[in-house]
Amino acid sequence: MVGCLATVDDGAPDARMVLIRGVDERGLHFFTSTTSAKARQLAVTPRACLVFWWEPQMRQARVRGAVTRLPDDEADAGFAQLDRSSQIAARASDQYAVLEGRAELEARFEEARQGMRAPAVRPPGWGGFLLSPDEVELWQGHPDDRMHDRLRFLRDGDSWVCRRLAP
Ligand SMILES: Cc1cc2nc3c(=O)[nH]c(=O)nc-3n(C[C@H](O)[C@H](O)[C@H](O)COP(=O)(O)O)c2cc1C
Repeated sequence: MVGCLATVDDGAPDARMVLIRGVDERGLHFFTSTTSAKARQLAVTPRACLVFWWEPQMRQARVRGAVTRLPDDEADAGFAQLDRSSQIAARASDQYAVLEGRAELEARFEEARQGMRAPAVRPPGWGGFLLSPDEVELWQGHPDDRMHDRLRFLRDGDSWVCRRLAP
């Protein structure tokens, strides 16, 4: 499941797509370069919003909450599940780096490919994050009459309070 992750960049919005690799009772898991803009932004403002869109069903989900780092053992497990190309990319790609050109990218990937042990070890610059929702909005479109359903769930301790919002 892929969603758009919005973060705060020194008071201004920033957003990009990420792959949600897991969902459990704590929240939603994604993985990224720990030197990336998103990771740096989350270190300063540890809150984010994730938005998902399912076009065939005309459904949107919007999830807001606090973001924390997943423990190292879960990041290790997440790295181990990647296919080999993704593991090489994770080793080679510091997402904050500005490259001279495509040739530098190819050289970095080749270096990472040659330096990779079997089984591959998670590089220190790659990790997992957990978004723990405290607000969820579910939107169901009704294109015929435009009377879309919009339900907002706000966390209240161990339970959730649901309110219907005007579409
Ligand atoms: C469909 C899709 C899925 C993506 N999934 C991830 C992901 O899971 N993790 C990641 O770091 N970047 C992912 N990216 C790349 C990010 O959108 C982004 O370009 C990159 O992480 C750098 O973002 P930042 O500079 O804002 O940190 C994905 C891009 C697309 C188009």
